[in-house]
This record gives sequence, C-alpha cells and structure tokens, in this order.
Amino acid sequence: MIALRDAVHALQSAQSIVVFTGAGVSAESGIATFRDSGGFWQRFPPERFASWNGLRRTAIHTPGELIEFLIALLEPVAMAQPNAAHRAIADLQEFRSTTVITQNIDELHQEAGSTSVCEIHGTLFDLIDSRGRFVGRIGRRDLLKIVNRLMRCRSGPFKLPRLLAAIQPLAGLRLWHSETRGAYRPRIVMFGDALAEPDWTRACGAAANCDAMLVVGTSGLVWPAATLPIDARQRGAVIISVDPEASGESINLRGNAGEILPRIIQGIANT
Ligand code: OAD
Repeated sequence: MIALRDAVHALQSAQSIVVFTGAGVSAESGIATFRDSGGFWQRFPPERFASWNGLRRTAIHTPGELIEFLIALLEPVAMAQPNAAHRAIADLQEFRSTTVITQNIDELHQEAGSTSVCEIHGTLFDLIDSRGRFVGRIGRRDLLKIVNRLMRCRSGPFKLPRLLAAIQPLAGLRLWHSETRGAYRPRIVMFGDALAEPDWTRACGAAANCDAMLVVGTSGLVWPAATLPIDARQRGAVIISVDPEASGESINLRGNAGEILPRIIQGIANT
C-alpha cells in the first residue's frame, strides 16, 4: 500500500509530530461519532442538546428526552477502554516527539499512555465551578452509577427533580461548601463556548510547529478546531488522514483507525 509507506516515511522524517483526533478514534471503543449515519447529532438535534441554553430548555420542557441524551452520552464513555488506535498513538511517542490534540472528552488517549494531550473541547472528568475553577474529578465508575440512576428516572412522575438528583456527582449546586459554593459542571466545551484553555493555545503552537500531522477520525467540520490542519499544511507540514471517508489530503489512508494506526507503528518500528 503506497499511501501507508508514504505515511511511515513522512513520520520517520519528522522531528515533531501532531496527532489530531476526533470522535472516529474512539468509535472502536464503542463511542458513537457525531455526524456519521446514526451519529449522535442525528438522534439528538444540536439545537436542543449541544449548548447549555438548549440543554436548559430541554430539561424544562422535555426532561424525559434529556434523560435519554445523558444516558446515550455517559454510558459508552463509562464503559469505554482504549482501543488499538489509542494504543498505537501512545506508542508513537517512543519514536518521536508527539503531541496529541483531541476534540474528544473521553480521556482515552491518556488512559492508553499518551503523555502530551491537549483536550481542546475539555473533558467530562474534571468538574469546574461557574467561574471555571477546578472543584474535583469523577471517574468512569461514577459515570456508570449516574447512568444506572438515570435509567431509574425513565418511568414515573417528577422526572426533572429526579434527573437533577441523579446527576449530582457530575453537575449541580453546592450550597454548603464555603470554598466552592455555587453551580458546578463538567469542564466540557459546548456550542458557543470558547475552547478550553490553556490547551487550545498549546494546540495552536504544536500545530504551527509540527513537521507531520496525523488527522484521525474527524469530519473537520467544527471550527476553530478545523483550522489546525489547515494552519499546519500552510506552514509546510505533511498531513496524513486516517478515516474511512475520503479526505482531500495528499496522504489519505482510508479505513478504521484501529486497523491502520498499528500498521503505521509497525512500519516505523521495522525500518
Ligand atoms: P464527526 O462525527 O463529525 O466525525 C467523525 C469522523 O470519524 C468521520 O470523518 C468518520 O468518517 C470518522 N470515523 C468513523 N469511524 C471511524 C473509525 N473507526 N476510524 C477512523 N475514523 C472513523 O466527529 P468530530 O469530527 O470529532 O464538539 O466532531 C467534532 C466536534 O463536533 C466534536 O468534538 C463535538 C461535535 O459537535 C462539540 O460538541 C463542541
């Protein structure tokens, strides 16, 4: 496969590599993408589920639908483990200086062993207060407990108060803590929010200075994240796309990340 050989060569020639990932890299861990057929935004329209205001309105008018959205969002992340693609990306840092820039909020890159990860859309596992200050962490087990509680809210009356009680470990109001009194929620970026800092500034720097960028499992439709490969290309970096869908990049590896990325690493290790 010529494209695979070209990709291996480009990565071997690079001093500094960026891996830019989207939902597709976690698809083989059981987490649905957003825009593929049957994707998240087809089941849950962004107008009602992708912004804080949309979520607030949905909570008030149709809490049952918010319960379904939260179960669909949290359950796969709670159950997920890194797949072969996450592991191959982590292995890349053994060969070259590698920065991972991810749009995902699932922390699977870190769990696979990647040590330099910019989470430009934040993470589901850090909790922040209304001023953006860190107030705590939750784990996958906590998410699973929340999912189980949400499932019990599906039937019966008073859905909204029961839903709010169910998600308390993740979001709510702290009335009694003197230090962290007030609202708290996960540190995730929703539509209309600024990107997560300092990760976004660090990501822009890494993209501007890399020699090769692996773009894995992203439709490239969401801005400003989508500017990163454009900027890297303009500054002379080789862009390698790994995605079942065709891309306009010069090195285009069509297929699942979990199959292609281990082959790239094998190619680098064997030459
Ligand atoms: P999308 O759902 O837009 O795109 C997913 C991409 O993954 C598509 O190009 C698929 O072809 C590809 N894909 C599917 N399965 C794959 C596999 N096994 N291996 C490799 N690629 C695969 O998801 P993103 O581009 O990540 O932001 O979406 C970007 C942002 O839009 C998300 O971070 C989220 C969303 O709205 C916010 O909510 C702020």
